[in-house]
Amino acid sequence: MIRFIEDRNERKRISRQVLEALPEWFEVETSREDYISGSEFLPMFAYFEDKISTDAIGFLCLKETGKDTLEIAVMGVLKDHHREGIGRRLFAAAKDYASQRGYSFIQVKTVKPGMYEDYDRTNDFYKSLGFKELEVFPTLWDEDNPCQIYVMSLKSAISAIATRHSYRGAFRDEKVPVEDLKTIASAGIDAPSGCNKQTTDLIIVDDPDTLDEIKAVLDPPVAQTAPAMIVVLSRRINAYRDRCFAVQDYSAAIENMLLAIVELGYQSCWYEGHITDEDRICDKIASILNVPSEYDVVCILPVGKAADDFHAPGKKKFSERVKFNSWNGF
Ligand SMILES: Cc1cc2nc3c(=O)[nH]c(=O)nc-3n(C[C@H](O)[C@H](O)[C@H](O)COP(=O)(O)O)c2cc1C
Repeated sequence: MIRFIEDRNERKRISRQVLEALPEWFEVETSREDYISGSEFLPMFAYFEDKISTDAIGFLCLKETGKDTLEIAVMGVLKDHHREGIGRRLFAAAKDYASQRGYSFIQVKTVKPGMYEDYDRTNDFYKSLGFKELEVFPTLWDEDNPCQIYVMSLKSAISAIATRHSYRGAFRDEKVPVEDLKTIASAGIDAPSGCNKQTTDLIIVDDPDTLDEIKAVLDPPVAQTAPAMIVVLSRRINAYRDRCFAVQDYSAAIENMLLAIVELGYQSCWYEGHITDEDRICDKIASILNVPSEYDVVCILPVGKAADDFHAPGKKKFSERVKFNSWNGF
């Protein structure tokens, strides 16, 4: 399991324990000690066998190198535990951390491929995570260790999909710029719709008084600190004959908006069940917003910057849900 390590001494202890066991990568004592002392001040994720274990199997530290970029400052996994997916899980936690804080890039430096076998494996690992070669600096460290810089954009559709999670915590008290709200709404109406009937419409709400009216009817209360909301409207018209794809249409629009929200550094949650139950909160919202009777309010998406930390919910394994070529495939 992965833990975020808050305590400075604990960070030093973990980095010492792991790095001293990895002489193939951290042989030079002065630079190893620099990594260890530096880790004290950096956000650290560490991997442990179980909840009670105090001996870390691996860790990763992040460092801000610019307003938009975090670097993997140092990372190590004990050799006996290589190829168990621990590095991958540490990186997934780091990537979530970076995305939730609105960073655009992650970079990492290592010794360029073709120099040493162990570093070649490190290069392969970073490439397998999706890092792309940025540049080699032949003398940044020294001539025997040319520095390869890898970079990864956190602003791609695939990154947004991987880092989107439902956020139900508090929002920061910061207005969302109108341009960002328009970008999110555009992503919604750009979604596909059955026979291009475009059955989904949206109302962007950022007026504080209107927001307060909506929040007052959300019972039990949710999204009470959201500085903006997108209210999703759906019109049940048939695409052809008696086929109505309105649900599919608004679902595609909502997912597009959730991804745009994450990419812009905000958080949200698909609140549909909550407002469309028997108490019909959706109708109260429709009345507040003067929604014409041919439309149903089907969902609200709060939009804002997260004030709390949050974690990905557990999901079933890939192999449990995805097969190749037939149900019996693997
Ligand atoms: C159709 C639909 C309705 C949902 N309604 C609610 C809701 O009313 N309240 C809520 O807290 N989450 C709601 N969610 C969010 C789900 O609970 C959430 O997507 C799920 O637990 C998986 O978590 P994830 O979004 O972090 O991957 C809804 C999601 C969908 C797709």
